[in-house]
Amino acid sequence: MCGIIGVISKNDEKKLATITVQCLERLEYRGYDSVGVASMEGNELEVRKAKGRIDEVVKRLNILSMTGRVFLGHTRWATHGEPNDINAHPHTDCTNSIAVVHNGTIKNFRELREDLESLGHKFKSETDTEVIPHLVEEFKKRGMDSFSAFKSAINSIQGSYAVLAIIKGENKIYFAKKDNPLIIGLGDKMNFISSDIPSFLPYTNKVLILIDGDVGYITPDEIYIENEGKKVNVLDRIKIITWDASAASKEGYAHYMLKEIHESPRAVDDTISGLISDIEDVKNAIKILEESKRIIIIAAGTSYHAGLYFSLLLQREGFNAIPVIASEYYNIKTNQEDSILAISQSGETYDVMMALKEFKANGSKIISLTNVIDSAIARQSDVKLYTRAGPEIGVAATKTFTSQIAALQFLYSLIKGDDYTYLNKAKDVIRRSLDFEGEAKLIGEELSAKSNAYYLGRGLSLPFAMEGALKIKEITYLHAEAYAAGESKHGPIALVEKDFPVVFINLGELVGELQNNVQEMKARKAKTYAISVNERLNTDKEILLTVEDERLSPFAVTPIIQLIAYYSAVKRGNDPDKPRNLAKTVTVG
Ligand code: F6R
Repeated sequence: MCGIIGVISKNDEKKLATITVQCLERLEYRGYDSVGVASMEGNELEVRKAKGRIDEVVKRLNILSMTGRVFLGHTRWATHGEPNDINAHPHTDCTNSIAVVHNGTIKNFRELREDLESLGHKFKSETDTEVIPHLVEEFKKRGMDSFSAFKSAINSIQGSYAVLAIIKGENKIYFAKKDNPLIIGLGDKMNFISSDIPSFLPYTNKVLILIDGDVGYITPDEIYIENEGKKVNVLDRIKIITWDASAASKEGYAHYMLKEIHESPRAVDDTISGLISDIEDVKNAIKILEESKRIIIIAAGTSYHAGLYFSLLLQREGFNAIPVIASEYYNIKTNQEDSILAISQSGETYDVMMALKEFKANGSKIISLTNVIDSAIARQSDVKLYTRAGPEIGVAATKTFTSQIAALQFLYSLIKGDDYTYLNKAKDVIRRSLDFEGEAKLIGEELSAKSNAYYLGRGLSLPFAMEGALKIKEITYLHAEAYAAGESKHGPIALVEKDFPVVFINLGELVGELQNNVQEMKARKAKTYAISVNERLNTDKEILLTVEDERLSPFAVTPIIQLIAYYSAVKRGNDPDKPRNLAKTVTVG
């Protein structure tokens, strides 16, 4: 996820740089690895860009002194290529005449880059985006006019994109949209085009929300859009916005957490396609894992639950995979024959860093899986793998957990020698689960009235029961405890009395055993709930989800456990985005 903005003015607007930077500041929640601005004054195209946060880069590069009538801006969340000055957007062609900003992922960029390089194009960055200005340059070289060249470039790329391009000497911003947001703001002698509405809302509330397949250009006084080759009637699509800027940045959702749960299908899809494009790193990681005597998986909190799930998958294949809570790393002595898999959304968690330092000093090989590209943990690793969930603002990890599960399952499939293409359906499974939001809300609201709850699971369901209980504790402040369902008889059941809530997580394996556990709880008059895949447990309340391929069960269950926690927190009047006593990144031991 990145933030992009284009501003175009009729007048020689002295303040256009300031306006662009203000828009970018409001887009910073979409990424903050690097910043860049392109401006065009007459026939002069200038790009200033660098790694860092907006305020610092703007000062350092004196971006407010840039002049012109056409501006592009970008704030980056790195997905391809580490966050550095060169990989920062805008990207340009060989002659620095075409500048492009992009939000999304180009799946076929390697093939395109190879083709372009064989035609003599010189690339400066490691990004997927840079193929776009070179493609436009190539098509123009072959005699096409600028708009046709831009459209041909867009037709050549596969993946998701919101793209803006400017071409030297043209008072226009070209755009194209597929799967990533892009909105035009119609101002007074000044038009905007951006990843979201709030970025330009102080200047205009007259908007046009672009839809997939839209391609066109804006000038200071014209909006031109085509879709599937047909001209779009712009006037039909203009809307007046009545809400305020802060509500808009959540794209209509009440909280970031809810928005991020709903972003999970895209996050999982981007994670898988990112790993496919980084397949050499994935193969290196697998080689290390397969050749080591023990696989030590270290992580904290939610990431630990993802790691625990992976360890169970590997253990079932005969691997010696040991999940370790990062802060307990001192209990394990590693050596050169061990490999370490560190899982961390932020890539900065102190306990994971400490464990890595020790394990590295022991000569163990380090593989990391982080959501932040080139994070501190990634930099400590021999092989860096990434989830590509985009920035997560809500403190509770949601879409990043689902993406970790997808990434780990991808690794597992390759280790087993299975076809991984079933993972392409994960996004549809998540979408179908999100249709049960109403049912999840009812369960969440019932739980919010309780003081305790058990989350029980068996086998592969247990890490998800643990994650469900953690989410509830974190944001509802309700005491929820997870146990292996069979283990619940060995003590925990003593607490169970009439209406004590017990939530069963049922991924569709060991169903008979789980059904027995349900009966034990019912016999003590517990209020039983289940989130089940394919087969019922016959609890008092049950959400039954179906998947064609049981390997996709985690993607069915995860959104529901997250939604239950979300709605129980909201019912209690808590802010799920900012739970008490917690920070998104824990950099202390
Ligand atoms: C749970 C949560 C925390 C983190 C934990 C590890 O919702 O957000 O439990 O999972 O602090 O953080 P990372 O994954 O950044 O290492």
